[in-house]
Amino acid sequence: MITALVPASSGEIDDDALHRIYAYPATSEPYVRFNFIAAADGAATTGGLSAGLGNDGDKRVFAVLRRLADVVLVGAGTVRAEGYAGDLVDADARSWRAARGAAAHPAIAVISGSLDLDPASDFFTDAPVRPLVLTSSSAPAGKRTVLAAVADVVDCGTDRVDAPAILAELGRRGLPKILCEGGPAVLGDFTGSDVVDELCLSISPVLAGGAGPRIAVGESPDEPIGLVLSSLLTEDSALYTRYRRAH
Ligand SMILES: NC(=O)c1ccc[n+]([C@@H]2O[C@H](COP(=O)([O-])OP(=O)(O)OC[C@H]3O[C@@H](n4cnc5c(N)ncnc54)[C@H](OP(=O)(O)O)[C@@H]3O)[C@@H](O)[C@H]2O)c1
Repeated sequence: MITALVPASSGEIDDDALHRIYAYPATSEPYVRFNFIAAADGAATTGGLSAGLGNDGDKRVFAVLRRLADVVLVGAGTVRAEGYAGDLVDADARSWRAARGAAAHPAIAVISGSLDLDPASDFFTDAPVRPLVLTSSSAPAGKRTVLAAVADVVDCGTDRVDAPAILAELGRRGLPKILCEGGPAVLGDFTGSDVVDELCLSISPVLAGGAGPRIAVGESPDEPIGLVLSSLLTEDSALYTRYRRAH
């Protein structure tokens, strides 16, 4: 049973309450929400994947965040590690979304500079919607041609994939509610570009040890970016935090 520590309330947090707590702000501007899970010792993976860190409450929050998003954005490293094949939301979520005028399935966008993605992988062949591949104009031409058969391949930058250009592209496509599910290189890059509006971080009550990364890697911004806690939920010793950028 999920309960709320911030804002304090007694009793169970049901799905309707989760929808209210995690509602995107009412804006047509791109809004960037990241969702991550980490072990209590800071590890973002165990055995090379994040899946082993989650409990039932995390899975519920994870599903609600997808349900509320216009687009699920993910780095190529995470697609290569975790697959991301098939539906990202279940039939109930698709009906819920359609009843509210949203596309039944959120859009799916993957960031890749190298275009080192297999067009025959089930990420593409089982995709419920045609994926977007966000790259730069310096990406290899041959790989671009091959991937263009299974995805919309879009340049967001010249020498590198540029975070503000990604947001502009998603905004142009009418996908302002962005849910970025990582991985650490993408959060690090978006932090460096100062385009992160929100971090939903689940803290799993385990010591994972090992050599797994933190949830953000890469260049530091000039100054750490301040956050404010907007909600804190708990179930079975796990914590589900929602931090928004302090303005
Ligand atoms: N704990 C969690 O919640 C969580 C969430 C997600 C992932 N993970 C884990 O994180 C690991 C993968 O993370 P990762 O850091 O290697 O990969 P990642 O952040 O998912 O993807 C990095 C890749 O994105 C592409 N990219 C292109 N331009 C970029 C830019 N400007 N900034 C950042 N990325 C850019 C590059 O792809 P190309 O190489 O194709 O150019 C780069 O290699 C996996 O083990 C996964 O399980 C954990």
